[in-house]
Amino acid sequence: MIETGEFDFENRLVSPREIETDIPEEQDYNLRPKTLSEYIGQQAVKENLSVYIEAAKRRGEPLDHVLLYGPPGLGKTTLSQIIANELGVNIRITSGPSIKKPGDLAAILTNLERGDVLFIDEIHRLDSSVEEILYPALEDFAVDIIWGKGAAANSVRLDLKPFTLVGATTRSGQLTAPLRDRFGVIARLELYTPNELCDIIVRSAAILGIACEKEGAMELARRSRGTPRIANRFLKRVRDFADIMGNGVITKNIVDMALDRMEVDELGLDKMDKRLLEMLIKGYGGGPVGLDTLASAIGEEAVTLEDVCEPYLMQLGFIARTPRGRCATDLAYKHLGCERVGKSPTENGQLTIMPED
Ligand code: ADE
Repeated sequence: MIETGEFDFENRLVSPREIETDIPEEQDYNLRPKTLSEYIGQQAVKENLSVYIEAAKRRGEPLDHVLLYGPPGLGKTTLSQIIANELGVNIRITSGPSIKKPGDLAAILTNLERGDVLFIDEIHRLDSSVEEILYPALEDFAVDIIWGKGAAANSVRLDLKPFTLVGATTRSGQLTAPLRDRFGVIARLELYTPNELCDIIVRSAAILGIACEKEGAMELARRSRGTPRIANRFLKRVRDFADIMGNGVITKNIVDMALDRMEVDELGLDKMDKRLLEMLIKGYGGGPVGLDTLASAIGEEAVTLEDVCEPYLMQLGFIARTPRGRCATDLAYKHLGCERVGKSPTENGQLTIMPED
């Protein structure tokens, strides 16, 4: 029997999205790096951004519009705050779903000062009527205000002060082509390596005054699914175990014991990941199976599986995306202790593995 349903997917301890028990990130300000040099990882993105920022500053111009995309929890909001800080300008933070009407966006845009950064999280979720306001704003720094309807409609063009839009989304393919084309800089954030996460954990532990041994930090890093938000969440929970069940120091043994109790395995997988892999292996013979079919079989939304579970399972090499659907790899069979009957469809040349978008 494969378990389905009744699992609080949104509040999993290994969720890369903010969960109910997290301190809201705006209140967790101390942990956020404020400059590019403090920001760990995403080396290629950082190096290029520092050139674009320096060039814009030297020319006295606003930075080109920037699109940041990649799985949740990797620091897109943090990076937008760093961009504003390095440029020495103000930042206005909002999100696609919270801008309901064209007038809401017009009000935000007309209040920006020259060079300011406007950060729109989940920019792919902007309503199309709002998105249309954005096109002339991005291209000509102007908004067209229209009132009345039909033949009686009037419009007036308001000039805006030049600004920089930083948009964030989980996959660049979710954006409409006209919106994507208006970004001068498109940067993809990658899952972090365990070494980078270890450095982030050591930095956060120092800021929070938590004693953490290097082996303890490395073990936490290995289980944090390439995601700083998860690493920092684990750090705070494991500290509780260290305080109550140890001598306050986070050691490898404390991490092993705490994450075992939290039902997170040595690779950072929880019950939900295992349920997905089991469904793929036992329910669909290892695939290929379409994402929608897999999602409904385990009672989850396809986009959640695609944005939240898949990036890490793919980084581990447990799932392969093929033109005919998802396949479990031999590594996934091995991790779950399952035997494959027959050959792997991706390893006998039948199916090609597709890159991520
Ligand atoms: N905290 C969260 N993400 C971080 C990063 N990339 N660098 C430093 N500290 C962080």
